[in-house]
Amino acid sequence: MAGIFITLEGIDGAGKSTQSGRLAEWLKQRTGRETVRTYEPGGWLGGESLRGLMLSGTKFSAMSELLLFLADRAEHVNRVILPSLRQNCNVICERWNESTIAYQAGGHDLNPGHVKRIISACNFPEPNIKILLDIPPETAIERIKSRKPDRFEAEGLPLMRRVAESYRRMASDEPGKFIRVDCDGMTEDDVFQAIASRLEAFV
Ligand SMILES: Nc1ncnc2c1ncn2[C@@H]1O[C@H](COP(=O)(O)OP(=O)(O)O)[C@@H](O)[C@H]1O
Ligand SMILES: [Mg+2]
Repeated sequence: MAGIFITLEGIDGAGKSTQSGRLAEWLKQRTGRETVRTYEPGGWLGGESLRGLMLSGTKFSAMSELLLFLADRAEHVNRVILPSLRQNCNVICERWNESTIAYQAGGHDLNPGHVKRIISACNFPEPNIKILLDIPPETAIERIKSRKPDRFEAEGLPLMRRVAESYRRMASDEPGKFIRVDCDGMTEDDVFQAIASRLEAFV
């Protein structure tokens, strides 16, 4: 049986990187398989320069931005995600198609139906489970205020609210696939326990 593919979604500061580490250890123990942690954009050898281009200064048109994120994903799929799954490793990835829908359609006004169709035509692997770390944008901003903001973080609260709302809609549209954790007021441990208790039914 191939490895399990899990994606972590949520606005910046939601706790994706924090939970990815915990989840990787838990999944490795539970399945006895190597577990690869990765992220988007840029989670492939050579991807850092594309990540820098996409997250720093340059302001792209919405369509260019969409296509750049998808080009990044295509490379990530071919170089990291599929090879790892084929070697029977589990894969945990921070951000996936739902980020593209939440930011480029929900956040940046591209037509959601068009974005979904373009993504669908890419035929990227479908995660077994998608985890949404749902957190009020105000809390997220408080957590990440010491970070140097990237281009999306710099757009602040209005963008984060639209993105958070778009994520929530996707999670409620696909209840069998999404584990949505309401992280408001929860410690890192609480959040992890909530994820693990829900994952036990699948893994
Ligand atoms: N449940 C939590 N409660 C309080 N702080 C948290 C929690 N989870 C993560 N953090 C902190 O919030 C910040 C952002 O978390 P991080 O995992 O980097 O988020 P993301 O990868 O989603 O941007 C980090 O400083 C992290 O230590
Ligand atoms: Mg992170």
